[in-house]
Amino acid sequence: MGRAIAIANQKGGVGKTTTSINLSATLAEKGKRVLVIDTDPQGNTTSGFGLNKNQLENTIYELLIGECSVTDALYQNVVDGVDIIPSNVNLAAVEIELIDMEEKEFILKKSIDTIRDNYDFIIIDCPPSLSMLTINAMTTANTVLVPIQCEYYALEGLSQLVHTVNLVKERLNNSLEMEGVIFTMYDSRTNLSMQVVENVKDHISENVYKTIIPRNIRLAEAPSYGLPINLYDTRSAGAEAYRLLADEVIGRKF
Ligand SMILES: Nc1ncnc2c1ncn2[C@@H]1O[C@H](COP(=O)(O)OP(=O)(O)OP(=O)(O)O)[C@@H](O)[C@H]1O
Ligand SMILES: [Mg+2]
Repeated sequence: MGRAIAIANQKGGVGKTTTSINLSATLAEKGKRVLVIDTDPQGNTTSGFGLNKNQLENTIYELLIGECSVTDALYQNVVDGVDIIPSNVNLAAVEIELIDMEEKEFILKKSIDTIRDNYDFIIIDCPPSLSMLTINAMTTANTVLVPIQCEYYALEGLSQLVHTVNLVKERLNNSLEMEGVIFTMYDSRTNLSMQVVENVKDHISENVYKTIIPRNIRLAEAPSYGLPINLYDTRSAGAEAYRLLADEVIGRKF
């Protein structure tokens, strides 16, 4: 059965989407079958894989409100070995539409359970909020991976996030585990990045991935070409880092 990893941090712009796209693509490059689920109305993972988010007949929105089936919402092999359930701005309204729905915390999980066995990994990109969308991601997931940007205030909000994960574990998904944290946008030219990494390590008890994602302009450029980093610039420092992360993720057993 596939391991589903929610990539979550309610802080914006920390590298959730960049990690979702490029971890998925490098896992697939290593022969794993991967499903990516975009649960963010911004749809950046969707466009990052080259889909035109405004011209999709079915998305996670239609899936969540019961207007299409999971296979209708699935776009296969957006790159070799990666399927995606995309998102766009329509999803922004879903919170209100779900208010009266029964078991609204489990809508995504129930759909994904029907296709879970088709994948080795399911990577779920979360929006920058602790909303019902993030809760749906966390009930679907086995683990939560938290990107932390190497900057001041890196720890801000982390305790809230850990608290939310614990609440979901207690009340909605007993088997949910912390996958760990991954440092992103590390700038080796400054002392700040190094200090942040040391400081965060001193203050948290969660697993810290050894791989550190460097700040790399190629990672920022790739989405505008609709390509993951391993296809956009396969020898870049960003591509190499995400390959190492994929190895570490594969090696970590739950
Ligand atoms: N390692 C990196 N090197 C250079 N730029 C990066 C790196 N990681 C992310 N970025 C850039 O930083 C910005 C924020 O990254 P990203 O979209 O992945 O964050 P996010 O957490 O998904 O944001 P949001 O909370 O808005 O969903 C983007 O412009 C992205 O291209
Ligand atoms: Mg994002």
